[in-house]
Amino acid sequence: MPERKCIAGKVIYRSSIAGDLPAIARLETLSDVPDGSGLSEALIALPADTLSFVAELDGHIIGHTVLTAVAGPDRALALAPLVILPAYRDMQIGTGLVRHALNQARAQGWKSVFVYGQPDYYCRFGFKSQLADGADSPLQGQRFLALELRKDALFGWSGPAAYPEPYLKRMKSKARN
Ligand SMILES: CC(C)(COP(=O)(O)OP(=O)(O)OC[C@H]1O[C@@H](n2cnc3c(N)ncnc32)[C@H](O)[C@@H]1OP(=O)(O)O)[C@@H](O)C(=O)NCCC(=O)NCCS
Repeated sequence: MPERKCIAGKVIYRSSIAGDLPAIARLETLSDVPDGSGLSEALIALPADTLSFVAELDGHIIGHTVLTAVAGPDRALALAPLVILPAYRDMQIGTGLVRHALNQARAQGWKSVFVYGQPDYYCRFGFKSQLADGADSPLQGQRFLALELRKDALFGWSGPAAYPEPYLKRMKSKARN
C-alpha cells in the first residue's frame, strides 16, 4: 500500500500537448475504454473548444481525459473519455486527473460539465443525474450526469445539449452491435 501511495504522489497532472498524441492513442489501445479507442484523437481534432489533460509518471503518460464543448447550455463541457492505464488503477490517479481537469475548466470560465458514466464513481466530484434532467440528449437515464462549476449554472435550464459528434457516433455504433 505505501508503494501505491508513493506512485500516486509522483504523478503530474497537466494539459496535453500535440507530442502526447501517440502516447494517448497507445494508452487507449492498452485500456478497456468503453467509448472505443481513437475517441480522444477525434475529439482533440475538433474545431470546438477541447480541453485535454494527462496524468504523467516519470515521463510516461498513464492517464488521459478530455472535456469538449457541448452546444446548448451556456459554457458547458462533456467529459469523455477518462482512462487510466490498468496497472495504475485504484491509486486515486483517475480522481486526481478529473479534479485537475475540473479545476482548469472552472478557471477558464466554463460553467458546467456533463458525463455519461458510473454514478458511483462520478458522485465523488459532485456529479448528479438530476442536474442533467433538463438536457434533451440521446444520452439519458441514471448514467447521464452533470456538475455545476458555477453555482446554479444549470438551475432552471432545459433544452438541447448537443454532445460532440465523434462521441455520439461511437454511442450509435455500440447500440447497433
Ligand atoms: C474508471 C477509471 C478511470 C478509474 O480510475 P482509477 O484511477 O482507478 O480511479 P481512482 O483510483 O481515482 O478511484 C478508485 C475508486 O473508484 C472506484 N471505481 C473504479 N472504477 C469504477 C467504475 N467503473 N465504476 C464505479 N466505481 C469505480 C473504485 O472502486 C475505487 O473506489 P474507492 O475509492 O471507494 O475505493 C479506471 O478504472 C479506467 O480507466 N477504467 C477503464 C475506462 C473507464 O471505464 N472509464 C470511465 C468511463 S465512465
